[in-house]
Amino acid sequence: QILILDFGSQYTQLIARRVRELNVYCEIHPYNNFPELTPNIKGVILSGSPCSVRDADSPKVDLDQFRNVVPVLGVCYGAQLMAHLLGGDVKPSQHREYGRARLEVGDRDSSLLAGISESSQVWMSHGDTIVRIPDNFSIIASTESVQVAAFKLEDELTYGIQFHPEVTHTTEGKQLMHNFVVDICGCSQDWTSESFVEETVSSLRQKLGNDKVVMALSGGVDSTVAAMLVHQAIGKNLYCIFVDNGLLRKNEFEEVLHSYEDMGLNIKGVDAKDHFYGLLAGLTDPEAKRKAIGKSFIDIFDQEAHLIEDVKWLGQGTIYPDVIESVSIKGPSATIKSHHNVGGLPDFMKLKVVEPLNTLFKDEVRAVGRTMGISEKILGRHPFPGPGLAIRILGDITAEKVAILQEVDAIFTGGLRKWDLYKDVWQAGAMLLPVQSVGVMGDERTYERVVALRAVTSVDGMTADWAHLPYEFLAEVSNDIINRVKGVNRVVYDISSKPPATIEWE
Ligand code: XMP
Repeated sequence: QILILDFGSQYTQLIARRVRELNVYCEIHPYNNFPELTPNIKGVILSGSPCSVRDADSPKVDLDQFRNVVPVLGVCYGAQLMAHLLGGDVKPSQHREYGRARLEVGDRDSSLLAGISESSQVWMSHGDTIVRIPDNFSIIASTESVQVAAFKLEDELTYGIQFHPEVTHTTEGKQLMHNFVVDICGCSQDWTSESFVEETVSSLRQKLGNDKVVMALSGGVDSTVAAMLVHQAIGKNLYCIFVDNGLLRKNEFEEVLHSYEDMGLNIKGVDAKDHFYGLLAGLTDPEAKRKAIGKSFIDIFDQEAHLIEDVKWLGQGTIYPDVIESVSIKGPSATIKSHHNVGGLPDFMKLKVVEPLNTLFKDEVRAVGRTMGISEKILGRHPFPGPGLAIRILGDITAEKVAILQEVDAIFTGGLRKWDLYKDVWQAGAMLLPVQSVGVMGDERTYERVVALRAVTSVDGMTADWAHLPYEFLAEVSNDIINRVKGVNRVVYDISSKPPATIEWE
């Protein structure tokens, strides 16, 4: 594997994605928590950072821990750090060095730059530049404004590059990553979803033995794939629980329950609608609603888990971005979100936790799901928030409002499928507004509810743009909603991006 040392760059996870696309496993570790160098670690990549090596308190690392033991590649800040620590000079840049540049390869024999074409486009994003390199460094590539765009240390497999090979704007970044990871580090490209499934199932079998595992499923991709892995390992000893909180989409509970049964899972559906509606009654504050839902869920889950004799483990669908230890320095990566799935384990349950997906990124989870034969219907689903329709009904929740919103949502998402737009959208749903407006139907004046449709494009939900859906589609959907859903006489489309708006309205 490759070890990526994170100095807080917004691109660190992208480096990991690029390495994994080469079918090579890698892990991200914070710069100040370098793990023991085991023989399976074949190389180290130092990430970028929002800091400057010139600052006294900027993140530093002792290079001797890995230099000359395995090949090293410093990217941006990582390269500047090596130059700085080994006796070179790093100064603030004279020119703006943000954006595209042309790479002139100076050393055609360098294995790092093998196969990279002349003047290929690279992406720069830095405020400092290396103005003098130590004696044992040699420059292997430059750009018009950056002389030290890439360097190598003499008689060592240690390299630094000022540009970012991990972003797609560096058009031959993939080739460079392949050169480093495969040719220089000698990693074999055998980390595939097939090998992941095989290894995970066998290690789960070993770890869990004859123990029983309980798991809450949501119909989402992560919990489903995690459950299927555990199921392959221990079969009926996995007890799955799927709770109907009364806040799911129309027919979702029955449909998902059936697909789980078809997949051979030992699944129990629990109808807890009334319990949830009871606790939610009269609550209007979004956070109060979230808390009530969280509490109800724990009550129900705990009650169900206690019915399983001698259960030892709690299975969870936690994925890698939720567990990557964040580097707390200034910059975008510093404010890592607190995730909804982490820390969901109530103390009193005292179960050991098993998380078979905690080394995978979301698209890798989907690939594993495909390898396991899980249907596209489940794998391609949009994300859906844990509190479900409760945070899409502004104000208090009643069974009647849920029923209205379920109808509207079914027409909207059904329409996206019918028009083959579903997969182009990252997430979509409808909001029931606490507003009534005047309308006219036939000869009658109406005074009914307003719904807002929301569809966004996004990569990870952290930022999002409103989806530019065709007017013809919106016209059809609006018409269907107003004609078919009693109590709604007006449909609006949300054209706010995130930030400053959020995806959900609460
Ligand atoms: P926002 O509204 O913050 O949403 O832009 C970003 C993503 O998170 C989902 N979301 C939640 N998921 N519990 C969840 O499990 C929650 O309380 C929650 N709030 C928002 C939202 O659907 C979107 O995918």
